[in-house]
Amino acid sequence: MTCKILIVYHSQSGNTQKMAQKAVDGARAIEGVDAYLKRAAEATLQDLLSCHGLVIASPEYFGYMSGMIKDFFDRTYNDARGKKEIFKKPYAVLISAGNDGTGALNHIERICLGYQFKKIMAPVMAKGPVNREVLDQCETLGKTIAAGCKEGIY
Ligand SMILES: Cc1cc2nc3c(=O)[nH]c(=O)nc-3n(C[C@H](O)[C@H](O)[C@H](O)COP(=O)(O)O)c2cc1C
Repeated sequence: MTCKILIVYHSQSGNTQKMAQKAVDGARAIEGVDAYLKRAAEATLQDLLSCHGLVIASPEYFGYMSGMIKDFFDRTYNDARGKKEIFKKPYAVLISAGNDGTGALNHIERICLGYQFKKIMAPVMAKGPVNREVLDQCETLGKTIAAGCKEGIY
């Protein structure tokens, strides 16, 4: 069976998109894994139910996640809640911020608790321009969640 990793992201000026793309590249480097990138505005309940692992990538806007990431949660929560496909779904977070990022992260993690997803690793938090080091961390995060899901260790 192919293991599916979904990377849901929003990005206005491209920083979060670069991070999300690197996570996809990392996940795709693992044999037997199909990783796909979806803009939050286009991501559906079906995407969420059918993936084996989830990466949420958001900029911090006004001390919160981007409105489109919140919209994705708003649109899927009621129908996803309580479903066996959702329970303990492994997830990880990428945040791009100007100088902070903790507001976005804390609110995302709180919502993920509501879904009963399982946090499987520390987030990647980029402050300021997205540099090589951040992109390497995103790639590693993608590889890690993909390899773990494929091996069924979560
Ligand atoms: C409307 C708006 C609000 C922002 N609010 C914050 C904030 O509260 N904290 C912060 O650290 N950066 C803030 N920033 C900076 C962004 O988080 C940062 O530029 C990020 O890299 C944008 O990601 P993107 O290129 O994927 O859109 C804000 C930017 C915008 C456009």
